[in-house]
Amino acid sequence: MFETLTSEAQKLLKTMGSEAMKVAWKWEKPADVNHGDITTTVALQLARILKKSPRDVADELAAKVGKLSGVERCEVAGAGYINVWLTPKALLEELAVTRKACTPAVTRKKEAPVIVEYCSLNIAKPLGVHHILTTMIGQVIANLYAHEGTPVVRWNYLGDWGTQFGKLFVAFEKWGAGADPAKISLNELLALYVKFHEEAEKDPELEARGQAAFKRLEDGDREVRHVWQAFVDVTKRAVAPVLERLSARFDTDVGESHYESAMAPIIEEGKKKGVFTKGEKGATIVQFPPPSTLPPAVVLKSDGGTNYLTRDLALVVDRIARYHPAAILHVVGVEQTLHFQQLMATAKLLEWELPVWEHIVFGRMRFADQSMSTRKGTILHLEEVLDEAVRRADAIIKDRGDAIQSDDPKELGEMMGIGAVVYGILSQNRKMDIVFDWDKMLSFEGNSAPYLQYTHARARSVIRKAGADSAKTSPAVKTLTVHERQLLGKLLQFSSVLEHARTERLPHVLANYLHQLCQDFNTFYNVDPILTAPEAERAFRLLLTDSAATVLKTGAEILTLRVPERM
Ligand code: ARG
Repeated sequence: MFETLTSEAQKLLKTMGSEAMKVAWKWEKPADVNHGDITTTVALQLARILKKSPRDVADELAAKVGKLSGVERCEVAGAGYINVWLTPKALLEELAVTRKACTPAVTRKKEAPVIVEYCSLNIAKPLGVHHILTTMIGQVIANLYAHEGTPVVRWNYLGDWGTQFGKLFVAFEKWGAGADPAKISLNELLALYVKFHEEAEKDPELEARGQAAFKRLEDGDREVRHVWQAFVDVTKRAVAPVLERLSARFDTDVGESHYESAMAPIIEEGKKKGVFTKGEKGATIVQFPPPSTLPPAVVLKSDGGTNYLTRDLALVVDRIARYHPAAILHVVGVEQTLHFQQLMATAKLLEWELPVWEHIVFGRMRFADQSMSTRKGTILHLEEVLDEAVRRADAIIKDRGDAIQSDDPKELGEMMGIGAVVYGILSQNRKMDIVFDWDKMLSFEGNSAPYLQYTHARARSVIRKAGADSAKTSPAVKTLTVHERQLLGKLLQFSSVLEHARTERLPHVLANYLHQLCQDFNTFYNVDPILTAPEAERAFRLLLTDSAATVLKTGAEILTLRVPERM
């Protein structure tokens, strides 16, 4: 924010001695407009270093800041905050930074990529409603990187390996009634899997047969492989349209099966380094020496079979070798926290050289509405939830009648329904449980997709009426009304909000900013006339309107939300 002003202010510190130079000048946006356009706590930090009173330091600095170009006035408040009001000209110039942030940067192809792994669905299971969490959160984090030019690898790490496929094979043989494995549905596969577990309680033999069938799969047995491959293909085909509706696209879906042969050398390495040792009943384990309190983990089962953890070790080795990534980010639910802690701790014990490596967790999904809870053993299908959302959006559109204008109500219903669910999730802090609440998601007034979409359409409609070109002319600088100032100030935060959302991996920071921007725009729209204002005001207000629409659209697209031109 305000680069020139910041470097000018930084120079002021020189006059206060070499110690003062250690402080980096930073501006923040005050929460309250009455505290200026920007504010800084530099005086507080400086007072500590110089052992002076914060108020005195603030007074001394404020006198100098007040003389800098672009500053209208400067005030010391509270314990030593320096609040600054900027000239309209300076504010307007800064708008260029926001407008620039609305165009995706060209990808810096030579740079090390960031691998974002999300969705990571399991083969032979339908997408459940909870899959939307990893899919959307991961996608937005990938989008935030891509938007500022970092190369990104979007990775749907398929769960396509493990003993469950042995069990599924046995179940398919036993109860599949000779069906063609290439024609089976995901619901049938799920039912077979459930049946296997029910029957296995009565017949302990089954478990062993499942294990044996998985061993055959691992050993490349043609028959088992053929069926497994068919299940993989069936799943991919079935989930594709659902992922498409969420605009989820991936660069790769290389899954767990791919690492089958890469694990042996890692096991060898671990043994040689003394990290992997023999545990109980012939398993190979890794123990985490104090001060770590992590429980030991199995890397090789007693039958010599590998597991989820071993595959993840191989995955990391492969990703580093193949991509030399700057970061690997796994977007996976909080249930797998222990797994990722053990994984990362193991890699550390093996003394691997690692990039930034994070488990990006999210909470569990909770339902505000009883009707959404599922019976035991069944899952709430993501597809059904999306259909329901669109149905509800259609009903609202119909209900509102003439209050909603659209060239294509069907399309608007899809945009609004899917958008409502997606935004409903992304607007919540991922670190907490995520509440699924139809009323809140579809509300036209609250922090919701329809409100954002409606506000965007409203701003675009003003621009249409004015003629698109009139919003592009640079207006004369004038004094600002309170709501103009508030809206402009909000617009100026856009690029730092994007950065904050990216570095903290928090999509809700962006979503909530867009919501505030909508509120500021709507207040401005309701109070300050735009199209009927005198020429100087009109041009300026159109520029604000156009900027608001552009920021809303850019931000929405990063959230993979579509916004309509009219509504
Ligand atoms: N397929 C797994 C599941 O649904 C998630 C995979 C997470 N990623 C990983 N590298 N382990 O539980």
